[in-house]
Amino acid sequence: MRRKLAAGNWKMNGVAADLAEVKALIAAHPEPGCEVLICPPATLIAQMNWAKGAHPLALGGQDCHVKAAGAHTGDISAPMLVDAGASHVIVGHSERRADHGETNSEVRAKALAAQAAGLVAVICLGETEAERDAGATLAVIGAQLGASVPESATGADTVIAYEPVWAIGTGRTPTPAQIAEVHGFLRAELVARFGPEGAAFRLLYGGSVKPSNAAEIFALPDVDGALVGGASLKAADFGAIIAALAAA
Ligand code: PGA
Repeated sequence: MRRKLAAGNWKMNGVAADLAEVKALIAAHPEPGCEVLICPPATLIAQMNWAKGAHPLALGGQDCHVKAAGAHTGDISAPMLVDAGASHVIVGHSERRADHGETNSEVRAKALAAQAAGLVAVICLGETEAERDAGATLAVIGAQLGASVPESATGADTVIAYEPVWAIGTGRTPTPAQIAEVHGFLRAELVARFGPEGAAFRLLYGGSVKPSNAAEIFALPDVDGALVGGASLKAADFGAIIAALAAA
């Protein structure tokens, strides 16, 4: 049985004043009925960890370096995220792949660094609109999955997020059939590669998830939750998504 996961990715948004949203969220959902994760900017992880008190909210980073420490100005390592109170880290988000030229092999190394530090790696995959239009979606996703997910990955230390690049921050989402096709493909690939353990990996959908479309997406087979950007910033919206997941 895979535990459902509602994950929020705050991206480069949020200062200490926004902890009020987290406090409102946990006050409204003291027992969320699914796993809830927020990945705020690294500057807020420790403060959020303190603000959440005994609530089961999990915290994560949005990226980590492949090394544990060293001369890498501006970077943050997986053990540092753990030290700040994180239990998860997003790796290979399409914005990092695009803005920082991260390759599948670098994403794989980051996932290994995260897992070595005891973090759950949330590994992101997704096709561009041009790749979808060219009919290459499954080929692109399959190649990303094969090269970004380490052989040692397990369902306990790895979550896969399918995020079509053209759906991120655009308000556009794939049709339910398109989401189901990719998630079914991911599940089959994971089982082919990892055997029965392949059934244990949680598969999140990400890209313009909001209260109005969450229930329809969560009803799809092999959708174990969502990675939510914009709609995770406001307690009311993220709370509605959490409630939809818990009810699915
Ligand atoms: P969005 O972002 O929900 O704002 O589309 C999702 C993501 O990039 O994780």
